[in-house]
Amino acid sequence: MRVSDYFKKDMFSGKTVFVTGGGSGINLGIAKNFAALGANIAICGRTQEKLDSAAEELRALGAQVHTEVADVRDFAALESAFAATRDALGPIHTLVAAAAGNFLCPAEQLSANGFKTVVDIDLLGSFNAARAAFDQLKETSGNIIFISAGMAMVPYAAQVHVGAAKAGIDNMMKTLALEWGRYGIRANSIIPGPIEGTEGMKRLAPGEAGKQLRRAVPLGRFGSTDEIGQAAVFLASPLADYISGTVLVVDGGQNLAGSGLFTQIISRELQKMAGK
Ligand code: HXC
Repeated sequence: MRVSDYFKKDMFSGKTVFVTGGGSGINLGIAKNFAALGANIAICGRTQEKLDSAAEELRALGAQVHTEVADVRDFAALESAFAATRDALGPIHTLVAAAAGNFLCPAEQLSANGFKTVVDIDLLGSFNAARAAFDQLKETSGNIIFISAGMAMVPYAAQVHVGAAKAGIDNMMKTLALEWGRYGIRANSIIPGPIEGTEGMKRLAPGEAGKQLRRAVPLGRFGSTDEIGQAAVFLASPLADYISGTVLVVDGGQNLAGSGLFTQIISRELQKMAGK
Protein backbone atom coordinates (compact mmCIF):
# COMPACT_ATOMS: atom_id res chain seq x y z
CA MET A 1 0.00 0.00 0.00
CA ARG A 2 1.06 3.56 -0.74
CA VAL A 3 1.29 4.53 2.92
CA SER A 4 4.22 2.18 3.52
CA ASP A 5 6.22 3.90 0.74
CA TYR A 6 6.25 7.05 2.85
CA PHE A 7 5.92 6.05 6.51
CA LYS A 8 8.00 3.52 8.47
CA LYS A 9 6.47 0.07 8.04
CA ASP A 10 6.71 -0.57 11.81
CA MET A 11 5.40 2.85 12.88
CA PHE A 12 2.47 1.31 14.79
CA SER A 13 4.14 -1.96 15.73
CA GLY A 14 2.89 -3.14 19.15
CA LYS A 15 0.09 -0.55 19.06
CA THR A 16 -3.62 -1.40 18.99
CA VAL A 17 -6.00 0.55 16.77
CA PHE A 18 -9.75 0.09 17.25
CA VAL A 19 -12.05 1.14 14.38
CA THR A 20 -15.79 1.18 15.08
CA GLY A 21 -17.76 0.19 12.00
CA GLY A 22 -14.48 -1.09 10.56
CA GLY A 23 -16.05 -3.88 8.47
CA SER A 24 -16.37 -1.93 5.23
CA GLY A 25 -15.97 1.28 3.24
CA ILE A 26 -13.91 4.22 4.47
CA ASN A 27 -13.56 2.64 7.90
CA LEU A 28 -12.03 -0.57 6.54
CA GLY A 29 -9.76 1.58 4.35
CA ILE A 30 -8.55 3.34 7.50
CA ALA A 31 -7.97 0.03 9.28
CA LYS A 32 -5.96 -1.27 6.30
CA ASN A 33 -3.64 1.72 6.31
CA PHE A 34 -2.86 1.17 9.99
CA ALA A 35 -2.41 -2.55 9.34
CA ALA A 36 0.13 -1.77 6.61
CA LEU A 37 2.20 0.10 9.22
CA GLY A 38 2.31 -2.72 11.74
CA ALA A 39 -0.68 -1.98 14.00
CA ASN A 40 -2.79 -4.61 15.71
CA ILE A 41 -6.33 -3.99 14.52
CA ALA A 42 -9.67 -4.41 16.27
CA ILE A 43 -12.94 -3.72 14.49
CA CYS A 44 -16.56 -3.86 15.52
CA GLY A 45 -19.81 -3.82 13.60
CA ARG A 46 -23.27 -5.29 13.56
CA THR A 47 -22.67 -8.32 11.32
CA GLN A 48 -20.10 -11.04 11.92
CA GLU A 49 -19.83 -12.00 8.20
CA LYS A 50 -18.78 -8.46 7.25
CA LEU A 51 -16.24 -8.44 10.08
CA ASP A 52 -14.87 -11.84 9.04
CA SER A 53 -14.28 -10.77 5.48
CA ALA A 54 -12.65 -7.50 6.62
CA ALA A 55 -10.45 -9.44 9.06
CA GLU A 56 -9.20 -11.60 6.19
CA GLU A 57 -8.12 -8.49 4.25
CA LEU A 58 -6.42 -7.06 7.34
CA ARG A 59 -4.58 -10.29 8.12
CA ALA A 60 -3.33 -10.40 4.53
CA LEU A 61 -1.53 -7.13 5.36
CA GLY A 62 0.21 -8.83 8.29
CA ALA A 63 -1.96 -7.51 11.14
CA GLN A 64 -3.11 -9.35 14.23
CA VAL A 65 -6.86 -8.84 14.15
CA HIS A 66 -9.66 -9.00 16.68
CA THR A 67 -13.35 -8.65 15.78
CA GLU A 68 -16.35 -7.94 17.99
CA VAL A 69 -20.02 -7.79 17.11
CA ALA A 70 -21.16 -4.58 18.81
CA ASP A 71 -23.61 -1.82 17.98
CA VAL A 72 -22.13 1.57 18.97
CA ARG A 73 -25.54 2.59 20.35
CA ASP A 74 -25.00 0.02 23.11
CA PHE A 75 -22.49 1.35 25.65
CA ALA A 76 -22.19 -1.94 27.52
CA ALA A 77 -21.44 -3.80 24.28
CA LEU A 78 -18.59 -1.38 23.55
CA GLU A 79 -17.22 -1.68 27.08
CA SER A 80 -17.08 -5.42 26.72
CA ALA A 81 -15.62 -5.20 23.16
CA PHE A 82 -12.83 -2.93 24.39
CA ALA A 83 -12.07 -5.19 27.36
CA ALA A 84 -11.84 -8.22 25.07
CA THR A 85 -9.63 -6.26 22.67
CA ARG A 86 -7.28 -5.39 25.49
CA ASP A 87 -6.99 -9.08 26.40
CA ALA A 88 -6.38 -10.09 22.79
CA LEU A 89 -4.15 -7.29 21.49
CA GLY A 90 -3.18 -4.96 24.37
CA PRO A 91 -4.56 -1.54 25.34
CA ILE A 92 -6.00 0.72 22.69
CA HIS A 93 -3.63 3.40 21.40
CA THR A 94 -5.84 4.86 18.69
CA LEU A 95 -9.63 4.83 18.64
CA VAL A 96 -11.23 5.62 15.30
CA ALA A 97 -14.87 6.46 16.04
CA ALA A 98 -16.25 5.91 12.59
CA ALA A 99 -19.50 3.91 12.66
CA ALA A 100 -22.27 5.90 10.95
CA GLY A 101 -25.70 5.60 9.42
CA ASN A 102 -27.25 7.67 6.68
CA PHE A 103 -30.10 7.97 4.21
CA LEU A 104 -31.56 10.80 2.19
CA CYS A 105 -34.75 12.27 3.58
CA PRO A 106 -36.15 15.82 3.47
CA ALA A 107 -36.75 17.20 6.97
CA GLU A 108 -40.49 17.58 6.40
CA GLN A 109 -40.78 13.83 5.77
CA LEU A 110 -38.31 12.61 8.40
CA SER A 111 -39.83 10.96 11.46
CA ALA A 112 -38.59 11.78 14.93
CA ASN A 113 -37.32 8.24 15.18
CA GLY A 114 -35.46 8.53 11.85
CA PHE A 115 -33.67 11.64 13.16
CA LYS A 116 -32.96 9.97 16.48
CA THR A 117 -31.64 6.83 14.84
CA VAL A 118 -28.89 8.66 12.97
CA VAL A 119 -28.03 10.87 15.95
CA ASP A 120 -27.85 7.74 18.10
CA ILE A 121 -25.52 5.90 15.72
CA ASP A 122 -23.28 8.83 14.81
CA LEU A 123 -23.17 11.17 17.79
CA LEU A 124 -24.13 9.04 20.77
CA GLY A 125 -22.18 6.12 19.25
CA SER A 126 -19.06 8.28 19.00
CA PHE A 127 -19.41 9.46 22.60
CA ASN A 128 -20.00 5.87 23.76
CA ALA A 129 -16.83 4.74 22.02
CA ALA A 130 -14.68 7.58 23.38
CA ARG A 131 -16.06 7.20 26.91
CA ALA A 132 -15.71 3.43 26.96
CA ALA A 133 -12.13 3.62 25.64
CA PHE A 134 -11.08 6.42 28.01
CA ASP A 135 -9.24 4.29 30.60
CA GLN A 136 -7.22 2.50 27.95
CA LEU A 137 -6.44 5.74 26.07
CA LYS A 138 -5.31 7.34 29.33
CA GLU A 139 -2.98 4.43 29.94
CA THR A 140 -1.42 4.65 26.46
CA SER A 141 -1.55 8.47 26.12
CA GLY A 142 -3.46 7.56 23.02
CA ASN A 143 -5.58 9.46 20.56
CA ILE A 144 -9.05 9.54 19.06
CA ILE A 145 -10.00 10.21 15.47
CA PHE A 146 -13.66 10.98 14.86
CA ILE A 147 -15.06 10.60 11.37
CA SER A 148 -17.22 13.62 10.66
CA ALA A 149 -18.75 14.81 7.36
CA GLY A 150 -19.06 17.94 5.23
CA MET A 151 -22.60 18.46 6.57
CA ALA A 152 -21.01 19.49 9.86
CA MET A 153 -19.74 22.66 8.16
CA VAL A 154 -22.36 23.44 5.51
CA PRO A 155 -26.04 22.41 5.45
CA TYR A 156 -27.01 19.80 2.84
CA ALA A 157 -30.59 19.19 1.77
CA ALA A 158 -32.13 15.91 2.93
CA GLN A 159 -29.39 15.57 5.53
CA VAL A 160 -30.77 17.38 8.59
CA HIS A 161 -30.19 14.31 10.76
CA VAL A 162 -26.60 13.75 9.60
CA GLY A 163 -25.62 17.43 9.73
CA ALA A 164 -26.85 17.73 13.31
CA ALA A 165 -25.07 14.55 14.37
CA LYS A 166 -21.75 15.33 12.67
CA ALA A 167 -21.65 18.96 13.88
CA GLY A 168 -22.22 17.53 17.35
CA ILE A 169 -19.31 15.15 16.87
CA ASP A 170 -16.91 17.95 15.96
CA ASN A 171 -17.96 20.02 18.96
CA MET A 172 -17.63 16.99 21.24
CA MET A 173 -14.20 16.26 19.77
CA LYS A 174 -13.01 19.75 20.72
CA THR A 175 -14.37 19.43 24.26
CA LEU A 176 -12.64 16.07 24.71
CA ALA A 177 -9.39 17.53 23.36
CA LEU A 178 -9.75 20.29 25.95
CA GLU A 179 -10.59 18.01 28.88
CA TRP A 180 -8.40 15.00 28.11
CA GLY A 181 -5.28 16.82 26.93
CA ARG A 182 -3.97 16.66 30.48
CA TYR A 183 -3.87 12.87 30.19
CA GLY A 184 -1.87 13.13 26.96
CA ILE A 185 -4.93 12.10 24.95
CA ARG A 186 -5.34 13.89 21.62
CA ALA A 187 -8.67 14.12 19.77
CA ASN A 188 -9.21 15.18 16.15
CA SER A 189 -11.80 14.77 13.40
CA ILE A 190 -11.50 13.95 9.72
CA ILE A 191 -14.10 15.18 7.26
CA PRO A 192 -13.94 12.90 4.23
CA GLY A 193 -15.23 14.28 0.96
CA PRO A 194 -17.03 12.09 -1.55
CA ILE A 195 -15.21 8.75 -1.64
CA GLU A 196 -15.31 6.34 -4.56
CA GLY A 197 -17.27 3.11 -4.15
CA THR A 198 -18.55 3.68 -0.61
CA GLU A 199 -21.98 2.95 0.86
CA GLY A 200 -22.30 6.65 1.69
CA MET A 201 -21.88 7.76 -1.94
CA LYS A 202 -24.17 4.98 -3.19
CA ARG A 203 -26.85 6.36 -0.88
CA LEU A 204 -26.19 10.05 -1.46
CA ALA A 205 -25.21 10.25 -5.12
CA PRO A 206 -26.48 7.32 -7.11
CA GLY A 207 -25.97 6.96 -10.90
CA GLU A 208 -25.85 10.11 -13.03
CA ALA A 209 -25.76 12.28 -9.88
CA GLY A 210 -22.36 10.85 -9.00
CA LYS A 211 -20.94 11.86 -12.41
CA GLN A 212 -22.11 15.46 -11.98
CA LEU A 213 -20.77 15.68 -8.46
CA ARG A 214 -17.33 14.49 -9.59
CA ARG A 215 -17.09 17.48 -11.89
CA ALA A 216 -17.95 19.81 -9.01
CA VAL A 217 -14.96 18.75 -6.91
CA PRO A 218 -12.09 21.22 -7.47
CA LEU A 219 -9.65 18.32 -7.91
CA GLY A 220 -12.07 16.80 -10.44
CA ARG A 221 -12.51 13.39 -8.86
CA PHE A 222 -13.81 11.53 -5.84
CA GLY A 223 -11.26 10.45 -3.23
CA SER A 224 -10.24 6.93 -2.30
CA THR A 225 -10.61 5.13 1.01
CA ASP A 226 -6.80 5.00 1.16
CA GLU A 227 -6.63 8.78 1.03
CA ILE A 228 -8.74 8.97 4.19
CA GLY A 229 -6.65 6.19 5.75
CA GLN A 230 -3.46 8.14 5.02
CA ALA A 231 -4.86 11.20 6.82
CA ALA A 232 -5.85 9.04 9.80
CA VAL A 233 -2.41 7.46 9.98
CA PHE A 234 -0.82 10.91 10.01
CA LEU A 235 -3.12 12.16 12.80
CA ALA A 236 -2.34 9.09 14.93
CA SER A 237 1.41 9.27 14.27
CA PRO A 238 4.13 10.97 16.31
CA LEU A 239 4.30 13.55 13.49
CA ALA A 240 0.98 14.88 14.82
CA ASP A 241 1.96 14.87 18.51
CA TYR A 242 1.02 18.55 18.92
CA ILE A 243 -2.19 18.38 16.88
CA SER A 244 -5.34 18.15 18.99
CA GLY A 245 -8.83 19.61 18.68
CA THR A 246 -8.64 20.08 14.93
CA VAL A 247 -10.84 19.11 12.00
CA LEU A 248 -8.88 17.87 8.99
CA VAL A 249 -10.89 18.19 5.78
CA VAL A 250 -9.85 15.62 3.15
CA ASP A 251 -12.19 16.34 0.28
CA GLY A 252 -10.31 17.59 -2.78
CA GLY A 253 -11.67 21.06 -1.99
CA GLN A 254 -15.29 19.92 -2.40
CA ASN A 255 -16.64 21.98 0.52
CA LEU A 256 -15.38 25.23 -1.04
CA ALA A 257 -18.12 25.13 -3.64
CA GLY A 258 -20.83 24.81 -0.98
CA SER A 259 -23.72 22.37 -1.14
CA GLY A 260 -25.82 24.03 -3.88
CA LEU A 261 -25.10 21.58 -6.68
CA PHE A 262 -25.53 18.64 -4.34
CA THR A 263 -28.91 20.02 -3.26
CA GLN A 264 -30.08 20.34 -6.89
CA ILE A 265 -28.92 16.83 -7.76
CA ILE A 266 -30.39 15.27 -4.66
CA SER A 267 -33.73 17.03 -5.11
CA ARG A 268 -33.90 15.57 -8.64
CA GLU A 269 -33.01 12.08 -7.35
CA LEU A 270 -35.60 12.29 -4.59
CA GLN A 271 -38.27 13.34 -7.10
CA LYS A 272 -37.31 10.39 -9.31
CA MET A 273 -37.52 8.06 -6.31
CA ALA A 274 -40.97 9.45 -5.51
CA GLY A 275 -42.00 8.86 -9.17
CA LYS A 276 -42.53 12.58 -9.90
C1 HXC B 1 -36.68 7.98 5.75
C2 HXC B 1 -35.89 6.27 7.11
C3 HXC B 1 -35.12 5.72 6.02
C4 HXC B 1 -35.20 6.41 4.75
C5 HXC B 1 -34.81 4.49 7.80
N1 HXC B 1 -35.66 5.46 8.17
N2 HXC B 1 -34.46 4.62 6.50
N3 HXC B 1 -36.66 7.38 6.98
N4 HXC B 1 -35.97 7.52 4.67
N5 HXC B 1 -34.52 5.97 3.69
C6 HXC B 1 -36.30 5.62 9.47
C7 HXC B 1 -37.22 4.46 9.72
O1 HXC B 1 -38.48 4.63 9.08
C8 HXC B 1 -37.35 4.47 11.25
O2 HXC B 1 -38.21 5.48 11.70
C9 HXC B 1 -35.95 4.90 11.68
O3 HXC B 1 -35.35 5.56 10.54
C10 HXC B 1 -35.09 3.72 12.08
O4 HXC B 1 -35.02 2.83 10.99
P1 HXC B 1 -34.47 1.32 11.17
O5 HXC B 1 -34.39 0.73 9.83
O6 HXC B 1 -35.26 0.64 12.23
O7 HXC B 1 -33.04 1.60 11.82
P2 HXC B 1 -31.78 0.66 11.88
O8 HXC B 1 -32.12 -0.77 11.55
O9 HXC B 1 -31.16 0.95 13.19
O10 HXC B 1 -30.86 1.16 10.68
C11 HXC B 1 -30.17 2.39 10.74
C12 HXC B 1 -30.17 3.07 9.37
C13 HXC B 1 -29.69 2.10 8.26
C14 HXC B 1 -29.29 4.31 9.46
C15 HXC B 1 -31.60 3.51 9.05
O11 HXC B 1 -29.74 2.73 7.02
C16 HXC B 1 -28.33 1.59 8.54
O12 HXC B 1 -28.16 0.65 9.30
N6 HXC B 1 -27.27 2.16 7.95
C17 HXC B 1 -25.89 1.74 8.20
C18 HXC B 1 -25.07 1.83 6.99
C19 HXC B 1 -25.00 3.21 6.47
O13 HXC B 1 -25.96 3.99 6.55
N7 HXC B 1 -23.90 3.55 5.86
C20 HXC B 1 -23.74 4.86 5.28
C21 HXC B 1 -22.94 5.67 6.16
S1 HXC B 1 -22.36 7.00 5.20
P3 HXC B 1 -39.79 5.16 12.09
O14 HXC B 1 -40.34 6.49 12.45
O15 HXC B 1 -40.42 4.58 10.84
O16 HXC B 1 -39.74 4.20 13.23
C22 HXC B 1 -22.28 8.30 6.16
C23 HXC B 1 -21.53 9.44 5.54
C24 HXC B 1 -22.31 10.68 5.56
O17 HXC B 1 -22.76 8.32 7.21
C25 HXC B 1 -21.69 11.75 4.72
C26 HXC B 1 -21.55 11.40 3.28
C27 HXC B 1 -20.92 12.46 2.43
